[in-house]
Order: sequence, then C-alpha cells, then structure tokens
Amino acid sequence: MKALVYNKEFKNKIEFTERKDPVIKSSSDAIVKVTLSSICTSDLHIIKGFVPRANNDIVLGHEFVGEVVDIGSDVKKIKIGDRVAANCITFCGECYFCKKGFINNCQKGGWELGCKIDGCQAEYVRVPYADMGLSKLPDNVTYENALFVGDILSSGYFGAQMCEIKNGDTVAVIGAGPVGLCSMMCAKYLGAHYIIAVDINDSRLQIAKNKNIADFIINPNKENTEIKIREITNNIGVDCVIEAAGDKSTFEMAWKIARPNANVGIVAMYEENQILPLPMMYGKNLTFRTGGVDAIHCDELLSLISNNKISTDFLISQKFKLNDIEKAYKVFQNKPDNCLKIAIY
Ligand SMILES: NC(=O)c1ccc[n+]([C@@H]2O[C@H](COP(=O)([O-])OP(=O)(O)OC[C@H]3O[C@@H](n4cnc5c(N)ncnc54)[C@H](O)[C@@H]3O)[C@@H](O)[C@H]2O)c1
Ligand SMILES: [Zn+2]
Ligand SMILES: [Zn+2]
Repeated sequence: MKALVYNKEFKNKIEFTERKDPVIKSSSDAIVKVTLSSICTSDLHIIKGFVPRANNDIVLGHEFVGEVVDIGSDVKKIKIGDRVAANCITFCGECYFCKKGFINNCQKGGWELGCKIDGCQAEYVRVPYADMGLSKLPDNVTYENALFVGDILSSGYFGAQMCEIKNGDTVAVIGAGPVGLCSMMCAKYLGAHYIIAVDINDSRLQIAKNKNIADFIINPNKENTEIKIREITNNIGVDCVIEAAGDKSTFEMAWKIARPNANVGIVAMYEENQILPLPMMYGKNLTFRTGGVDAIHCDELLSLISNNKISTDFLISQKFKLNDIEKAYKVFQNKPDNCLKIAIY
C-alpha cells in the first residue's frame, strides 16, 4: 500500500512510499481501510523533532475515519464492514489509568498511532484494542462529519473539560485554530455564556464570529487583550481560559486574562519550556491543568454530531488525494490564511 513515512534521515523528514499492508498482530486488533485522514499540527511537531517519544520510520497520522476490513478473534463490539471513527489514543481499557479515564497514560498505549506505531496516512492501518479505539458511526453521520471526533474535537472537549465550565461562565480561548474552534464549540455546549476568541489571524477570528462560535474576537496584534477582556468582563477577568495556541506570549496571556480563582486549561503543545512566574501570580489562586487528550468521549461527540448539536465539517478547508499528501503537507506547513484542516482521501 501507499503510505507517508516519517524518517529523520529524509531530506524533508517525510516520504510517500510503498509499505506492506498491515495485518492482525494481536487478537484485539482491527484493520481499517482509511477513507479520510487528516494532518494534525502534532504531525508537524514530530517532523520538527519536538516529540521525543516519536519513533523513526513510522507511518504518520492519527486522525481518521474508515471501514473495518479485518478483526482479531477477541474484537466483539466492532464488526467487519462497520464505518468507524478512530481515537487518536490507543488504550487497553483495563489498566490503572484507563479505569480512571486517564487513557492518555494507558500503561499499554497512549499516543501510539502515527507516533510510536504506524498511523493512518496510508491506505490501511492496524488499530490495537479496536473495541476501545474505534467508534461506530451513527447512520446519519458521514465520514466527513466524523473525521475530527477522535483527535481535535476530543481535544477541544478536553480543553473545555479541564476548565470545569459552569453555566454562565465567560470563557476565553486563545488560538482560533482547529483545536481552539473545537474548544469554543464544546465550551458553549458545556454551559459557557460568552466565548471570547483570541488570535492573531483575522481570517480565523472571522470564522469564529461568522459561525456564531465566539461572541467576542480579539486580535492581540491590534488591541490590548488584557484591557479588552477587562472591558468585556466588567473589570473582573474571564472565568476560564483555554490555551490552544502554543506560543510563549499566549502562555503568559493565559494567566494574565484569567480572573482570580479561574481555571486555566492548557491544551496546546509547546515546542519550548514555559515559565509560571509564581511570585507575580501569588494571590491570584489559579488552577492550571495541562495535558494530552484523554479522548474518552468519542461516542458522546458522535451523538452530538448526529443530533446536529455540533458540526466540524467547516474545518475541512482543502482536500487532497493520498497520492498528493506531500503537497498537502507543504500547504499545511505554510499555513495560508484559507487553510484550517486538510482532508486526505
Ligand atoms: N493536548 C492534546 O492532546 C492536543 C491534541 C491536538 C492538538 N494539540 C495542540 O493544540 C495546539 C493547537 O492545534 P491547532 O491544530 O489548532 O493549531 P494551529 O497552529 O492551527 O492553531 C494555533 C492558533 O494559534 C494562533 N496563535 C499563534 N500565536 C499566537 C499569538 N501569539 N497570539 C494569539 N494567537 C496565536 C495561530 O494564529 C493559530 O490560529 C497545537 O499546539 C497542537 O499541537 C494538542
Ligand atoms: Zn493530533
Ligand atoms: Zn490502559
């Protein structure tokens, strides 16, 4: 089959090449024919060498939907022929951490696909613990509707959950990229009254505003974010901050725009260490949460999509054939204004 392989030795770190079709290795595996996959900002972090746990010579990609074509003897929930969305996290469902819902730290899994084992930017992919990692699509949910369920929509939900949003809260989301936009939709769903989107990219802010995802938009290159937030919140600051941008300045902004005793959820993945200036923050009594997504809500998110409560279709801004995936990477890396997410088919 054709696949996009990450290798440190390659000139561009990626190569579109031939690989053997994956086969069932363990009785809990499934083989999925990938109908749509996507490129994630985290794939770029791997290529840039910022993901120490990534293995060399693996097929990239962890965000996909497809059709199950083979299953191991212990797979019960998922059947051959099922249309499925895949979780970006591989998890056994039985270990200490899985039992608590902390699947990112599954003792037998974690972020494996497209990082430690072959991922989905290929024609076929082997999914370990298929009954855990695959969710059957409701009949009225298309592959396009479901493409982002297992990664960025789950990550957006995770970001919103980290903030323990209460009805009526004002939530600022820094970064109106795909993850930030998903966080905004999930924050609204979880009860936020006002959503404030902060980004330096005007076209992304406009999407947030035009799609009614954000109530206020702020571009820090054009306005003083702290002053604007104080104006919006009667000088209080926001109840919750979701940091989905990943810059040094946005990490600082996250605690500055938070009101005292606010919750700050860091969903962004940083390429460098960040500093919490605890003496300056003393008395602000913030709660910080960080982390890689515990994507345990895929079925719930699919049901929200099925019931028209959430839609992520608009995030697909471009489509490329698998054969053209190297071109797709170039576009995604250059981040033109009109590019949010690329679907590979
Ligand atoms: N925690 C997880 O499990 C998880 C899962 C998926 C993605 N991520 C991470 O989430 C982050 C966001 O992902 P994405 O796909 O939306 O990325 P993205 O790069 O498309 O979006 C980031 C947004 O932040 C904005 N931004 C950058 N610098 C800014 C600044 N100084 N001020 C305001 N806005 C600024 C950019 O304009 C962009 O719109 C990435 O770091 C990604 O790796 C984490
Ligand atoms: Zn991802
Ligand atoms: Zn586990």
